[in-house]
Amino acid sequence: MSAAIRIEAKKGDVAGLSADIAVVWKFKGDPELPGPVDRSLAQRLVEIAKSDRFEGRAGRHLLWHAAASDGLKCRRYLLLGLGDRKDLTLERFRRHLGDALVECDRLGAVSVALPLLQAGASQFPGREAAVALAEGVLLGTYRFDRHRSEPRAGRKHLREVQVAAGDASLRDVADGIGMGETTAGATNFARDLVNEPAGELPPERMVEIARQVAAEEKITIKVFEPDDLRRMGMGGILGVGQGSRHPPRLIQLGYHPEERPVRKVALIGKGLTFDSGGLSLKTSEGMETMKCDMAGSAAVLATLKALPGLAPRTEVVGLMGMAENMPGGGAIRPGDILKMMNGKTVEVRNTDAEGRLVLADALSYASTFKDLDEAIDLATLTGACVVALGPMAAGVFGNNRELVDDILSAAGKAGEAMWPLPLYTEYGEHIKSDIADIKNTGIRYGGAITAALFLSEFVRDGLRWAHLDIAGPAFGDKDYSYLKKGGSGVGVRTLIRYLMDLAA
Ligand code: BES
Ligand code: MN
Ligand code: ZN
Repeated sequence: MSAAIRIEAKKGDVAGLSADIAVVWKFKGDPELPGPVDRSLAQRLVEIAKSDRFEGRAGRHLLWHAAASDGLKCRRYLLLGLGDRKDLTLERFRRHLGDALVECDRLGAVSVALPLLQAGASQFPGREAAVALAEGVLLGTYRFDRHRSEPRAGRKHLREVQVAAGDASLRDVADGIGMGETTAGATNFARDLVNEPAGELPPERMVEIARQVAAEEKITIKVFEPDDLRRMGMGGILGVGQGSRHPPRLIQLGYHPEERPVRKVALIGKGLTFDSGGLSLKTSEGMETMKCDMAGSAAVLATLKALPGLAPRTEVVGLMGMAENMPGGGAIRPGDILKMMNGKTVEVRNTDAEGRLVLADALSYASTFKDLDEAIDLATLTGACVVALGPMAAGVFGNNRELVDDILSAAGKAGEAMWPLPLYTEYGEHIKSDIADIKNTGIRYGGAITAALFLSEFVRDGLRWAHLDIAGPAFGDKDYSYLKKGGSGVGVRTLIRYLMDLAA
């Protein structure tokens, strides 16, 4: 819950702005400073860079203190290396911004001025550059401080960023900043939820938070209590939740556009507030970060929270399958059989493969919706996906090529690493059960694929469906630039981008 930072677009170049620190970019081997920077100031800085042998390598910086007699509006200038111009993408720009702002904060700046950057490997449109800029600033300065008795030492709070927009349309830039504030705000909201300890955030607390979001934004909410889940035959969610003192819930959110919707999409999130593994108990190390197992549901809630402000013409249903996987006396046992909402029976071989049991009911339920065009689920589903793609990328599965491609393209534009994985139906034999319709685990190899195949059993024929396995990127064990250690808020920016592009 970082202090708010105001980002403002200003006409003209960076020399016209007064702030504690001005950031100025430098490409390696390029004598000109990119973006709107006054000529004489640029000359001055280039000379300083030369005499200090600062070339502009990516991530390097040089701080110059101007003298009062220099008559400049800013007294400190942070030259920031961007590397080769041909390598700069909007995603790298986001990262450089995050790093730059953290450095300015460290240097004690309350206000920072910087030029909008529109050119790198290609020309960035003003609006897109401004979106990336705002995201870099707001995601890069995120901190989770709620549970500290004192704020971390040596930190002043950065409060204001002024953006020299040069010749770019001030309207486009301001509009882009607004968009970036929305996407970054929603992402940071999801991060807060993921970072919150599981003891503070059982299913019933997620219900309270979702109700609060629904009361503040124009979002509808319906909560299914355990009795409702029983009536609806949701044996998966109930089964997973029955070993915990905190009963499970299914939360349904709705966004309805003012105009007639062009499409109806369901977003479904795995919401395990904690995953101990259940009776198939994880190792202590294996459960250290398992408060992150509700990251899918956090992304769904954060996305819905952002939609009314963005007003896309798509109707969106959000489903959050909330449960806590614990090994209490009432817990499901390996060998038990659960009956899911769509009537299929599942033999539980491993109680730690619980996410698919919760999603089975959520997908079955979504499959009953009238006029639903597609369902997209997000889940920290398998360690196997992390083995396949590493900790940075989400795996994307689906039964419809176009939908998967559109999601990958939205992820690319949003700056989130996602990669397609196959749904080899041959591996379906790995989840055949001797005594029930299917079982919940297969063989060790291809675990992300069998999990996805399992889910596909609960998607109605003809419904377009995509599954994002976010087990890798949901929770970082170190900072990757603006992707901070801890909850990442992965999925939020991709979903927002995807939904916005649908109606465009
Ligand atoms: N929540 C875990 C998956 C996970 C692992 C998320 C690492 C984030 C980081 C999931 O419920 C799980 O335990 N999956 C098992 C499935 C196995 C028992 C078939 C796994 O991946 O080991
Ligand atoms: Mn598990
Ligand atoms: Zn899990």
